[in-house]
Amino acid sequence: GAPRRRKLYCATKYHLQLHPSGRVNGSLEDGAYSILEITAVEVGIVAIKGVFSGRYLAMNKRGRLYASESYSAECEFVERMHELGYNTYASRLYRTVPSGPAARRPPGAGERLWYVSVNGKGRADLCRWLCSN
Ligand SMILES: *[C@@H]1O[C@H](CO)[C@@H](O)[C@H](O)[C@H]1NC(C)=O
Repeated sequence: GAPRRRKLYCATKYHLQLHPSGRVNGSLEDGAYSILEITAVEVGIVAIKGVFSGRYLAMNKRGRLYASESYSAECEFVERMHELGYNTYASRLYRTVPSGPAARRPPGAGERLWYVSVNGKGRADLCRWLCSN
């Protein structure tokens, strides 16, 4: 898909920033590193690249966000656009799957998605992202 140039800011007012060092954090001020390019790689799946850092938003298997120099499956996120005007992004690769026998569960039941979030503690819980140009 055609890239959309956007900034993502959390409802808590933090702008998502991808730094050249590989660090991902949220800033109250929007700077160059908060200018992002969001590209659909498949229906509902996006890659988020920092325009000035040249790095991709990525989540590792511990749920930690980093800015990756190279593109990998860790850079793919499930984008959900909500009617209230915000988006959520969750790792496509990693999620918490309930333990125990899977046979009795409908597919996806009890799973917990790992969302892209910047809340100061680096925890990967729900963040509602608003887009701006
Ligand atoms: C985000 O990370 C950058 C680069 O490491 C740092 O300079 C900046 O102070 C950090 N911002 C916040 C709000 O933590």
